[in-house]
Amino acid sequence: MSHAADRAQDPTPAFAFVGCGNLGGAILARAVGSGALDAARTLVCESDPARRAQAAALGARVSADAADARGARTLLLAVKPQSFGDAAARLAPLPGDALVISVMAGWGSAAIRQALGGAARVVRAMPNTPVQVGCGMTAIAAGAGALEADVAEAERVFGAVGRTVRIPEELIDAAVAAGGSGPAYLFLLAEAQEAGARALGLDAVTARAMTVQTILGAAQLLAQDGRDAAALRAAVTSKGGTTAAAIAVLEQRGFAQAVADAMRAARDRSAELGK
Ligand SMILES: NC(=O)c1ccc[n+]([C@@H]2O[C@H](COP(=O)([O-])OP(=O)(O)OC[C@H]3O[C@@H](n4cnc5c(N)ncnc54)[C@H](OP(=O)(O)O)[C@@H]3O)[C@@H](O)[C@H]2O)c1
Repeated sequence: MSHAADRAQDPTPAFAFVGCGNLGGAILARAVGSGALDAARTLVCESDPARRAQAAALGARVSADAADARGARTLLLAVKPQSFGDAAARLAPLPGDALVISVMAGWGSAAIRQALGGAARVVRAMPNTPVQVGCGMTAIAAGAGALEADVAEAERVFGAVGRTVRIPEELIDAAVAAGGSGPAYLFLLAEAQEAGARALGLDAVTARAMTVQTILGAAQLLAQDGRDAAALRAAVTSKGGTTAAAIAVLEQRGFAQAVADAMRAARDRSAELGK
């Protein structure tokens, strides 16, 4: 398909994706599926033809050229941070009535606004990979020029792929540590728990099933029970019992401190990448 042939016909789509890869694609599919976005009024600007085809199959208009997103009222910037310079060169200047929602790590809202001509309003969103299964956690921050309605619009879109929280933009690096990188901490725990189960003689399939269901069940309990994590842990830890024996080892090895240090490292690395 030529670029001209698959270029959007509607010059004024309501919503445009600039980059629609892993993250953008997941948001598009779920937001269209839930009705949060109207596919027919959504334009997807994406350089990869296979990804454009996926977006077109959902009913979205597609284009290979980010410049076609210029007329959109809301633009979701979901390119890699290193691709933003090229995308901005195609997009700028955006008008003052354009809302730009950026999921890019490392680019502050003032720099984004400036690269897009200085007039667009910018909201930053920091989601995590569980958006792919509709269970994401997205921190949303009002950025340069953003109005209350702009933050609400970002909440509406990301609400289609999980939960949202509002934070000030200066805490976006903390949100990377707490949410963005967060799934990997749990995956590491799952790896260790699976390996531990196998070391105790359980077969690989059983070890995996027990690990996945235990993490899922614990997360559901934490989400639904009303008690906090410390209370739930206390409830399964009888004095002198099996869980107490396990927790004592984790505490001796500095588990909580290791997690806190890891999160600080993620926060600091995020801040460094933004310089
Ligand atoms: N994945 C996550 O969980 C997560 C979480 C928080 C934030 N983020 C942020 O989300 C952004 C996207 O991540 P991702 O994993 O979805 O990346 P990705 O899969 O690489 O998706 C980006 C897509 O944009 C396309 N693209 C690049 N420049 C373009 C342009 N000028 N016009 C149109 N399309 C263009 C890329 O095509 P090519 O490959 O051909 O360049 C690619 O298909 C990143 O900035 C990342 O920091 C991701």
